[in-house]
Amino acid sequence: MSNQTAWKTRYEKAMLGIFGEPQLVLTEGHGVWVEDEDGKSYMDLLGGIAVNALGHAHPKIAEAVAEQAAKVMHVSNFFTTPVAIELGEKIRKITALPGQEPSDSAKVFLANSGTEANEAALKIVKSWGNQHGKSRVLALEHGFHGRSLGALSITHKPNYRKPFEPLIPNVQWIEAGNTAALEDAFLQGDVAGIFVEPIQGEAGVLPLSAQYLQKVRQLCDAHGALMVVDEVQTGIGRTGAWMGHHFAQVTPDVITLAKALGGGMPIGATVTMTEDASGVLHPGDHGTTFGGNPVAAAAALAVLNEIDSHALVNHAKQLGATWMKNIIDLENDHIRQVRGRGLLIGIELDADYAGQVVKQALEAGFIVNAANPRTVRLAPPLIISQDEADSFTDALPDIIEKALKNTNQNLEAN
Ligand SMILES: Cc1ncc(COP(=O)(O)O)c(C=O)c1O
Repeated sequence: MSNQTAWKTRYEKAMLGIFGEPQLVLTEGHGVWVEDEDGKSYMDLLGGIAVNALGHAHPKIAEAVAEQAAKVMHVSNFFTTPVAIELGEKIRKITALPGQEPSDSAKVFLANSGTEANEAALKIVKSWGNQHGKSRVLALEHGFHGRSLGALSITHKPNYRKPFEPLIPNVQWIEAGNTAALEDAFLQGDVAGIFVEPIQGEAGVLPLSAQYLQKVRQLCDAHGALMVVDEVQTGIGRTGAWMGHHFAQVTPDVITLAKALGGGMPIGATVTMTEDASGVLHPGDHGTTFGGNPVAAAAALAVLNEIDSHALVNHAKQLGATWMKNIIDLENDHIRQVRGRGLLIGIELDADYAGQVVKQALEAGFIVNAANPRTVRLAPPLIISQDEADSFTDALPDIIEKALKNTNQNLEAN
């Protein structure tokens, strides 16, 4: 029995099976590479789903975590630490529009995950609504904001929601990118706030246009509603800007962050950007034991400083654009569309066999995932080099060919 198989048997016995069988048991990594229990190496083009911004085992993160753990690892929220404050200051800077100083209104709440960051944002919207006599929350079709009951209430996928209904009431779904539907929803009145992702990652890497985001801002201003932008997957430089919505030159009322913020350490943040949003919650309205944890904060500071000092935001922009062009230039008949921004890329196939592509990619030594049945998602570490990206582009036609062959064989067998 391989080491992998032995570990998988133990996994099945010990762990609640909500993620299905793990594809691999990974033991260590370096840069964009990870190694499994049997010693096989893979190029990680998923980066823990947009988390490992600096790749695996980055020495600056490891050092920051070790140093902080040896100083103070946790204090309750009756207290704070220099590192949590420094992180708050840094987050204010990266969330401000490029070239602008953070507004005095911008304030940071540190949480532990994307779901929790959105949970706090939803409480801000609900409370804002209660204070102003508004009860409806708008969310976009195919949007994903997390799995806790609040975040799930604004997450669209019926399979995720059904077993847990009834969820929070008065959520209205609108078609992403459809300006007329957006205007209509606001005209019905009573809107407390709206949640959008600049690129719907879990839905299959579906970008919103700058015009759409600007329209959301305008309508929120006109109707006294809060605009929440979920940057959990798109934030921290991934799209070639610090924030995925920056290209639209709008300032939301609330921004939520997680994933790449800690480079692998669990941390999230809810950033209130405007006076309206920053004034909603008062002491006692919300809380968390671990939010602001100094070790997680030290990791996040190391990530943000490293991204700054190596100009990785610009690297993501340049490399992402070249990479997308190179995949398009393959002129592969089975690739319908390549979309995204920076290093969040969706490769849409001509039919529903993205799952097979993921399998064949793994065989070939690349970790990618299927964001939907026909879209392969790339969200690699921001440190990935052109050569590393090219090696996947070169291998892609063969991976697709093998995936198709397997899909057809499976169809025949059935
Ligand atoms: C856009 C978006 N929001 C929220 C979440 C939930 O974040 P977490 O899994 O850290 O709770 C995710 C996770 O995939 C996400 O992509």
